Parts: sequence; C-alpha cells; structure tokens
Amino acid sequence: MNASSPTIIPAATTEAPPLPAVQTIGLTRVYGAMTALNSLNLTINQGDLFGFIGSNGAGKTTTLRILATFLQPSAGTARVLGHDVVKDADAVRHVIGYMPDFFGVYKDMEVTEYLDFFGACYKIPSGKREQTVSDVLELVGLSEKRGALIGALSRGMQQRLGLARVLIHDPKVLLLDEPASGLDPRARIEMMAILQELQRMKKTIIISSHILSELQNLCNRVAIIERGQLIYSGPVQGVRDQMAAGLVYWVTVPGDSSRAIEILQARPEISEVVAVDGQVKVSFKSHDVDPSFLPEVLVQCGIKFTGLWEDELGLEEVFLRVTKGDTQ
Ligand SMILES: Nc1ncnc2c1ncn2[C@@H]1O[C@H](COP(=O)(O)OP(=O)(O)OP(=O)(O)O)[C@@H](O)[C@H]1O
Ligand SMILES: [Mg+2]
Repeated sequence: MNASSPTIIPAATTEAPPLPAVQTIGLTRVYGAMTALNSLNLTINQGDLFGFIGSNGAGKTTTLRILATFLQPSAGTARVLGHDVVKDADAVRHVIGYMPDFFGVYKDMEVTEYLDFFGACYKIPSGKREQTVSDVLELVGLSEKRGALIGALSRGMQQRLGLARVLIHDPKVLLLDEPASGLDPRARIEMMAILQELQRMKKTIIISSHILSELQNLCNRVAIIERGQLIYSGPVQGVRDQMAAGLVYWVTVPGDSSRAIEILQARPEISEVVAVDGQVKVSFKSHDVDPSFLPEVLVQCGIKFTGLWEDELGLEEVFLRVTKGDTQ
C-alpha cells in the first residue's frame, strides 16, 4: 500500500437492535384473591411464529387480552412494537390483530358485508375497501364464499373468516387465541398453512394452544406457562432438552430380569430401574451421560439381553410431565 493513501476506517455500526414484537416485564394480573398471571417476563421477536402453550387456566387468554389492550395488568408492563399497552393503547390497537378464543359472528350477514363493516371501523377509505376485502379473502382461501351468508359457513370457514377480519387493517402482530380449536384435522392443516403464509409475509404471529405437539412443526419458538408462570421460552427442540429429566433406555431381558435390575440399580449414573411389561426401563439421572456402559456391564455380568434402545420421549409426554396436568 502507498504510504500516502488514505486509511479507510469502517464506519461504526450504530444500528439499534430491532424492537421486540412483544415484551412483557413482571406482567401480573390478579382476579380478586387469584393470581392468573404471575410476573411474566416474555420477549417475542419480530417475524416469530410463536406458540404460547399452557393447559386450561394457565393464563394464555389473560396474557393475550392484556396485549390486545382489552384487560389492564395489575402490575408490570407489556409493550407491543415498543408501545405500552396501557399508556399507548391506541397505537397498540393499530399494530395488532386480535382473534379471541370465542367470537360472535353475524350469522345473517354476507361474508363481504361483514369484512367491509370491519374495514370501515378501521377507517379504510371506501374506494380501497373492496380490494382489501378481496385480498384478505384470498389469503384465507374464502374467495369463493364472498357472497355466502356467514351462518351457512362451516366451523373451519368461520374461523378463517375470523382471521380475515383481524387482517383487514394489515396489522404487524397477530394475537390468535386457540384459532384451531374445534377444527377437524383437515381444517387445522389449512389454518396452519395460512399462518405459515402470513409468516412469510413478515407478520409476527402469536398463537395459543394447550397442545404442544400441535405447534411443534409450525412455530419457531414457544413459551410454556403454567399457573400464570413462565416455565420455558425458547426453540421447540429446547423443550425436550430442558424439561426431560434424563435419558431413558429400554432393555429386553428374556426370562427373569431381577438380577439385571439389581446390577443396574447399583450404578451411580442411573436413577431408577423398573420392569414394565416384560421390558426393563432404565432412567438416567441426566442427559449428559455416555450410556455405552449399559451393554458392557450387562455382558460383563453374564446377563443376556435381546434388545436395547433409547426412549424417544414424545414432546407431548414431556409437556404433560412439565405441566403435571395442573389446572386452576
Ligand atoms: N374474569 C375473570 N374473573 C375471575 N377469574 C378469571 C377471569 N378470567 C380468568 N380467570 C381465571 O384466571 C386463570 C387464567 O385464565 P385464562 O383464561 O387466562 O387461562 P387460559 O390459559 O386461557 O385457559 P384455557 O386453556 O382454558 O382457555 C384461570 O384460573 C381463570 O379461572
Ligand atoms: Mg384461554
């Protein structure tokens, strides 16, 4: 390099990190003596398709209603794209689309009439409304039903119409409270496909459900709440890693397995050995163990076995174990 050439110093990057789509800090809601939401700290990034999971009474609807500005928190704060749900409620309403778990539909109205009505509520100019209504109907796959009476639509179609309604003002963040509940498997798959399309359109989608396995292939991140408290937030795969108590192996020992059980029970890495339906279930204390000693020790002790395999603990089983089926 020529000694006189100017030194190029790269400009310092001053870009602020992107705003979270949703951030709650110490979010709490009490109903009389009952704490429905207990100091919830949750961050949801823009562009996430986020699963909000919990059993009945866990606090999902309470959280979504607070984020939708329909319910005041008792303590703590919640922000949607930086807007405080209490102090800037109007700004929050502009950026969200909230689909409650139960919503009344106007059975005697036609599909387009219904959406046009909500378009007018959001002050979409009348000249633009027809196109907007067509766009959202296409998005949810209801274009062919535009002239139908709402009362004549199937449950799945009514759910999709509900989704079309919350899309009418092109919100950035969707809060969907159990949008697939009561739908048959095909309608569920259709609903999930629409949500994936909305994610491709760069929307942030928060979807609640009490079935973790239903969302495992859909969502990139999930939060699990139980009795108003956050017990997990992160990638779906992390649920199993964080929540499963330890590795589980099954061993098939023909005939009497009591000696095998006795030998394995003496190992410090193992927490429990039990016979279940002619198999021996071996539970390890953690995930961070090398289980290769298992066949070695059996062979050394002269114990014959005809099968040995790792238990692929189902996600739903992990979830049930974590939440213990507690309801309030
Ligand atoms: N208006 C209310 N008055 C009193 N208690 C309430 C009220 N709304 C909710 N709760 C209680 O708050 C707790 C959380 O309820 P929430 O509806 O948020 O749970 P959820 O996770 O949505 O449950 P579900 O899966 O049944 O919809 C429950 O114990 C519920 O009984
Ligand atoms: Mg609910």
